[in-house]
Amino acid sequence: MAVSAAPDYRQRFRSLIFSETGIRMPESKDHLIVSRLRRRLIEGGFRNLDDYFAHLFEEGALDDEWEAIVDQITTNKTDFFREPVHFDLLARRLIPETLARTRPGLPCRFRLWSAAASTGAEAYTAAMVLATAALADARLDWTILGTDISKGVLETAERAIYDSRELAPVPSDMLARYTMTGRSRGAAGQSRIVPELRRRTRFAVLNLIAPPFPVSHGLDAIFLRNVLIYFDDDQQARVVSDVAGHLRPGGWFFVGHAESMVVQDPRLDQIAPAVFRMREARG
Ligand SMILES: C[S@@+](CC[C@H](N)C(=O)[O-])C[C@H]1O[C@@H](n2cnc3c(N)ncnc32)[C@H](O)[C@@H]1O
Repeated sequence: MAVSAAPDYRQRFRSLIFSETGIRMPESKDHLIVSRLRRRLIEGGFRNLDDYFAHLFEEGALDDEWEAIVDQITTNKTDFFREPVHFDLLARRLIPETLARTRPGLPCRFRLWSAAASTGAEAYTAAMVLATAALADARLDWTILGTDISKGVLETAERAIYDSRELAPVPSDMLARYTMTGRSRGAAGQSRIVPELRRRTRFAVLNLIAPPFPVSHGLDAIFLRNVLIYFDDDQQARVVSDVAGHLRPGGWFFVGHAESMVVQDPRLDQIAPAVFRMREARG
């Protein structure tokens, strides 16, 4: 006897998230989905997740809800100076080598893409390192692009206001030079990244699994850190290839330390843990 079952909305939701964002949400992570979507449930007056999902798959509901869902289901953990050896390398090798390649007297453009930027800590850390290098060599003309699938985190990145706990890893000289503290009572314990850094750092929504990307080619460095872990093997390989395609020959590619093994692109040579370089063209 055929038994009609209620549609498995959870499965449908998981598939939707995977196909639209690349993020795997196995059944074992159902509790995570529940806890992350709880606020949406309460605000919408839904009794439970199944009711919420049933509503989502009604005509038009998903369009209204999608941005909030992406903000909730993404893991946005980030820190200033996270995996600091990468920023040491930026200061000690990438910038000096790029300056050395530039003819004396000419400006040296350095373009960096933070491709899963979250709330902007990675992009502004790179900005602090580049701005410090530019103090020593004024030829350095740097810009940073930060992108992420979540609009919510990018709004924080654009605001560029962080509390002192978040800024704790920033060395004190950089903190003094590159952040400013508001005087109002509401701003206590918070600082904002200075305009000189904000002017050179731009943010935009970009989905890594939906190429082609509206991003320049020939970039000097790309940080694609701590996002590949959320994708499956095929998606990881595709994203690495699509993103790395925006590097110049000899350009640098950084992934999270837990993701080093993921990078198997034949155009990329490994230089250090989680650090790769785009092969120079033979000629
Ligand atoms: C854990 S954070 C990493 C932040 C930063 N790169 C770092 O290492 O500190 C991962 C970020 O990847 C973003 N993300 C997840 N899936 C994405 C996709 N398909 N396209 C673009 N960004 C994505 C999330 O929104 C999140 O902000």
